[in-house]
Amino acid sequence: MTKVLVATDKAFAPAAVKGIRQVVEQAGFELVLLENYTNQDDFIKAVADADAVIVRSDKTDKAVIDAGFNLKIVVRAGAGYDNIDLSAATAKGVVVMNTPGQNSNAVAELALGMMVYYVRNFFNGKSGWELKDKKLGIHAYGAVGKIVARIARGFGMEVYAFDPFIPREAIEKDGVKWISSVEELYSKCNFISLHIPANSQTRQSVNFGLLSRMPMPAVLVNTARAEVINEADLLKMFQERKDFAYLSDVEPTNKAEIEAGFKAKYFCTPKKMGAQTEEANINAGIAAARQIVNFINNGDKTFQVNK
Ligand code: 3PG
Repeated sequence: MTKVLVATDKAFAPAAVKGIRQVVEQAGFELVLLENYTNQDDFIKAVADADAVIVRSDKTDKAVIDAGFNLKIVVRAGAGYDNIDLSAATAKGVVVMNTPGQNSNAVAELALGMMVYYVRNFFNGKSGWELKDKKLGIHAYGAVGKIVARIARGFGMEVYAFDPFIPREAIEKDGVKWISSVEELYSKCNFISLHIPANSQTRQSVNFGLLSRMPMPAVLVNTARAEVINEADLLKMFQERKDFAYLSDVEPTNKAEIEAGFKAKYFCTPKKMGAQTEEANINAGIAAARQIVNFINNGDKTFQVNK
């Protein structure tokens, strides 16, 4: 019987697991759950007899892929697939897919939520400031960036976007101002919301050269990936710009240094939780299960990312 393993060190909401189970069992497949595991060896052991795997940010490296003797497909229930070793998968003939757009609303709501939390002094009772009329720069106008723009416009923010892969008209039709260079985006906006993936072009690309262009007060919001930030430069920005704040859903490795010196200007969620809503888990989890069934039964490779 076809075995579908759900390997999630950060478990899906129960309603999502129920939905995944329904899709998998209706297809006549078997569902195996490995939730909240803390040891990578458990993942390696569990994948041994799986035909298909659903993961979130779970590290799916060569060791995992090679351990899956029957493995045919890995679906990342989410957008970013930087946690999966695509070359190892391709070398073994394993198809890798993501589920684009399925958890975008949850991530976008968190980005705006963190902005409100910061401008209202972490709800500590002291007088704060407002988002209305402030300039927000969306760095990458994909599924999440687009929703951030819509919500921010609802707050009355002036929204700008830079994305070399999206046509100017697609940005402008949303009432968002199109920006032609990343430098211009940072020079113009008090708030920057990051929505770039982590890849060879973007790793450490958010550096002092870019950040120091931001007008005062400057607020950087990261619901994307820790790796896209140059962390030494992030610290330098805190040291040189007393107005600078960093709000993040992905913990920087130099968190201790930042917290020690700049606590009032820094917030990070205790665990990556942008996509941690029941709705996002249901959408992404069930989409992943359906994609697996469709691939195993019909050979459908829509959403394959390792072509
Ligand atoms: C994504 O790439 O979809 C988000 O970063 C969500 O990641 P998560 O499923 O690990 O919460």
